[in-house]
Formats: sequence, C-alpha cells, structure tokens
Amino acid sequence: MAVSIGQLGKWKEQRRPIVALTAWDYAISSILDAAGIDIILVGDSLAMVALGYPNTLPITLDAMIHHASAVSRGVKQALMVCDLPFLTYQESLSQAIHSAGRILKEAGVQGVKLEGGYPLIVETISHLTTIGIPVMGHIGLTPQSVHRLGYRQQGKSPEEANRLIREALQLEGAGVFALVLEHIPSDLAEEITSKLSIPTIGIGAGPFCDGQVLVTADLLGLTPKQPPFATPYANLRDTITLAVNDFAGDVREGKFNPDKT
Ligand code: KIV
Repeated sequence: MAVSIGQLGKWKEQRRPIVALTAWDYAISSILDAAGIDIILVGDSLAMVALGYPNTLPITLDAMIHHASAVSRGVKQALMVCDLPFLTYQESLSQAIHSAGRILKEAGVQGVKLEGGYPLIVETISHLTTIGIPVMGHIGLTPQSVHRLGYRQQGKSPEEANRLIREALQLEGAGVFALVLEHIPSDLAEEITSKLSIPTIGIGAGPFCDGQVLVTADLLGLTPKQPPFATPYANLRDTITLAVNDFAGDVREGKFNPDKT
C-alpha cells in the first residue's frame, strides 16, 4: 500500500522507525521504491551531488521540478517530498504558495519541505498547511543558510537548544507533518522527539529520532567527500571506476566484442 502522510503519525505511535532517502532521478527512485523505502525526498542536496554545485543555493525551482518529475515516475509506494529551493519561498507568502503549488501540480509529489523555524517561516508554513499543502519542516543545520551558519553542528549551547525546541513546537503548531532534525546533539534530538506528536526524521542527530534520512549519494559512496555523520553502506565510486577501467581496457586492447553476450 502506498505510504500516506497519516501513516507516518501512526508509525510514530507504534515506534516503527521511518526510513527516508533522497533521490534525484528515475533510476535511483525506482530502486529505492522497490526496496520499500518509506519517504523519498527530492532534496536540494541534488544541486551538489547530481549537478556539481558547491552548495544548495544555485538550484532553481524549474530544476527541482524537472528532477522531482523524473523521481516520481519511478515511485509507486513511497511518500514523495520535494525541497523548495533557496529564495523560492522566503520573499513573500504568495511566492511560497506559487512555488509549493507548482511542485505539487507539476512534479506529482505529496509534500514540500521548507528549511528554518524562525517566525516568518512558521507563519508561511501555517498558511501553506491551511490551504492543503502538506509541509515537512527542517531545523538544526539548514544548508540553505550555509553562509550564515556553515556546516557546523547546531543546538550545542543551552540557548540554541532552547531555541530549537521552541521552533520545533511552533512548526508542529503550524501543521508540519514531520520534522527533519539535521546535525544536532543526540540528546537534544531525543528531547524534541519526545515533545512532538509528529515524527522527527534525523540526519546526524543520533539514534533517538522517529526516523532517519540520508543523502543516497553519501549512503552509496558516490560523493567524493561525505559529511562526518553520513554512513556509507557501499563504495560505488570504486565499483564504477573499476567497471569503467575494465571496459576502457577491453576496448583499447581489442578485447571488447559487443556481439558476445
Ligand atoms: O537536501 C537534502 O538532501 C536534505 C536532507 C539532507 C534532509 O534536506
């Protein structure tokens, strides 16, 4: 059965961990979906892992819709969520409605993710959820704020931790259906998770969240450099390099015969 937003809340009640991974094209999403991944996120990290940008800021709404459309063609079961890229929701409420609406209508995903928990974003999210646009929140390390925050762990001081707890509660009040907690201390993630009735999805936030998400390119060892909290489960860079070198060697040495299968 296809994963619904309502199902996520039930899984939290049942303490059934939620598994989320990112995808940026049809090939990857069809593999993740067939493997039974619960949430497939078209994260704007694709700007870095698929398009080679130095951070997530340059990606456009059109590019996200292009990739999310390809991802959705490979998905039959998973819940699909797509990031709203930098400066496609912060300017005004009407900009946020327009951007989120385009993603839902054109890419066929079920929800959008917005970064941040400051008052303006909480207000925007409250409007989006009121008009029927499902929203996933994202606090802690928010990569769209890289020039202000860097990629440092967030929530280390008591003041920062209290702010993040406050933001999590306000985002829940604004109607988010789940909340990504990125790169915050494990005990803080545990405290936030215990205070919310919506599921938390951690990345670099310890084992006590209701679910975990990873950037699939990091999981597969496709990225040349991974964040410290990413856990590679394969080394596809080496596997691909080996296959490419074998093929090139066979062609150069006259050993490659396309008719021989
Ligand atoms: O863009 C992304 O891939 C994300 C995940 C790291 C949660 O936001």
